[in-house]
Amino acid sequence: MIKNNLANKLIQWLPTMRSCNCPKNAINCLSAKAWLRNQVPIWWFNKKELNIRYDMISRQHHPAIFPTALAKRVIENYTHQNDTVLDVFSGMGTTLYAARLTKRNAIGFELNKKFADLTCQRLKLKNDKYCSKPNSAHNQNKSGLHLQLINTDSRELLDYIAPESIDCVFTSPPYWDLLNQAPSQRNLKHQQYLKNNYSDDVKDLSNDPTLDAFTKNIKDIFAKVYNILKPQRTCIINTGDYRRKGKYISLSSHYISILSELNVELKNVIIWDRRQEYEIGIFSYPRNFIVNNGMFEYLLEFQK
Ligand SMILES: C[S@@+](CC[C@H](N)C(=O)[O-])C[C@H]1O[C@@H](n2cnc3c(N)ncnc32)[C@H](O)[C@@H]1O
Repeated sequence: MIKNNLANKLIQWLPTMRSCNCPKNAINCLSAKAWLRNQVPIWWFNKKELNIRYDMISRQHHPAIFPTALAKRVIENYTHQNDTVLDVFSGMGTTLYAARLTKRNAIGFELNKKFADLTCQRLKLKNDKYCSKPNSAHNQNKSGLHLQLINTDSRELLDYIAPESIDCVFTSPPYWDLLNQAPSQRNLKHQQYLKNNYSDDVKDLSNDPTLDAFTKNIKDIFAKVYNILKPQRTCIINTGDYRRKGKYISLSSHYISILSELNVELKNVIIWDRRQEYEIGIFSYPRNFIVNNGMFEYLLEFQK
């Protein structure tokens, strides 16, 4: 569905301006009640919120999507109507889908053509006048909101997006090589859909041969993210820690160090509580105490 086009221009519809009447210094358009709910730094979602049709279908095609309800809550918490949200690892385009539901513009980068094409089909994105860059598909709806998906390596971000033109970044990078581990190593055996890797492409960060290589690539991408974010705006990274061959891999700590090296301040840590998606097992009783760290994930909030 996504076609090549040889022109070489930045995305033309950026930057966008908020369309709400919120006070200038308000960080979002939420009511006080909704804002208060998000202040509790442990977020969870009920079964109804987790089982929406778009997510159920997406899970049949992609091993690790986050729920639309999570993306919606993040977007509503950090942006205003008509702001632009970017996801640099967009998978099945859940962030774009949630942006459309909440009346925000959105851009996604996804390396894997299959996931990019499925996103385009679901969101009805196609080549049009705004797709002056290779591998890009776009839709502008009746209210003027833009959704654009770019099927390429997110290290090419600066070819597409001008500095200081994005209001919020929400993304879930690959958990390094978690999906390439044998299921017993993943420590996530109740998650039925975590059964395949994303691809065998060497540009796919989940295929990086070492944690150092992965960290270096993440640093490269987030230096670019810093560049395209407007001042004082927020980047939220969804990640989790896991065990690899018995060793605890604290990806969350890696992100905090990488972004602090880029002079980006960690502002908040929110726990995404996933207990309702798991059955509790007794894997290591009584010889060991190993918590199942797939039951929660982090939302790391960084401010430019
Ligand atoms: C955790 S998934 C994101 C899922 C997404 N949040 C969703 O809900 O659909 C990470 C995605 O990053 C993609 N990816 C890996 N390396 C990439 C790269 N270098 N550039 C762009 N995307 C990449 C993978 O193909 C995968 O779809």
